[in-house]
Amino acid sequence: MLNKLVVGNQKMNLTANQTRKFLNSFVPLVDLVNCDVGICVPYTNINVCKKALKESKILYGAQNVSEFEKGAYTGEVNAQMLADVGCQLVIVGHSERRKMFSEQNSQINNKIKQNLKYNLTSILCIGESKRDRTAGQTDKVLCKQIDECLSGLYENELEKIVIAYEPVWAIGTGQTATAKQIEEAISIIKNEISRIYSKSIIDKVRILYGGSVKPENVREFVKIKNLDGFLVGGVSLDASAFSELIHLFVDGKGKK
Ligand code: 13P
Repeated sequence: MLNKLVVGNQKMNLTANQTRKFLNSFVPLVDLVNCDVGICVPYTNINVCKKALKESKILYGAQNVSEFEKGAYTGEVNAQMLADVGCQLVIVGHSERRKMFSEQNSQINNKIKQNLKYNLTSILCIGESKRDRTAGQTDKVLCKQIDECLSGLYENELEKIVIAYEPVWAIGTGQTATAKQIEEAISIIKNEISRIYSKSIIDKVRILYGGSVKPENVREFVKIKNLDGFLVGGVSLDASAFSELIHLFVDGKGKK
């Protein structure tokens, strides 16, 4: 069985110095916790993570990567550069990038392939909008995102993929999906992956939930079948609240 995994997506927040302070408080709070913990920071803060997490098992990574290998792509950062500064994780296909930067499934697919070349784990975000859900299109939308983002990948490469189910309407809104909705989404994701690949691979792909998860509501999600962890936005900026969330998830106890 794979370890549980909780990853913070700090989005476009914190300077290098603020990240250093954050990690100084956060690391001792979670270093011994019985689950994988990761943090995805702005590019400028990756080297801070590299230094601060040298002796720690906390994983770190980026929130995006170029779909291109290298060359004249002003402003881009490639997978090789991320691997070179010790990243293990890269978030791809976040709904904020899909919406605000018009990122397409085909580009996300290229990004995942670049990550694979450098042995980086992709956290692939998928999720339906409120409109999709109301129109009864959730399963269609999730399956299309999976099919197109994973297109051309071999089954053994799925071990480097984590899927984050993040319904767009639950991100930063304070409105979470219900346990039933998350369970349904997980089962759609698992069915689609086993349809494309085989049943045996499905337990090797971790599935996270993201969208307004906080210490106050995390216990509602603990019982969800086949849920392997969370991708956490806002709360991951606060070392104490984020560690509390992780402890509540893993051992049912809040502060250490
Ligand atoms: P919030 O936890 O702030 O809703 O953000 C979720 C998210 O977008 C994680 O990638």
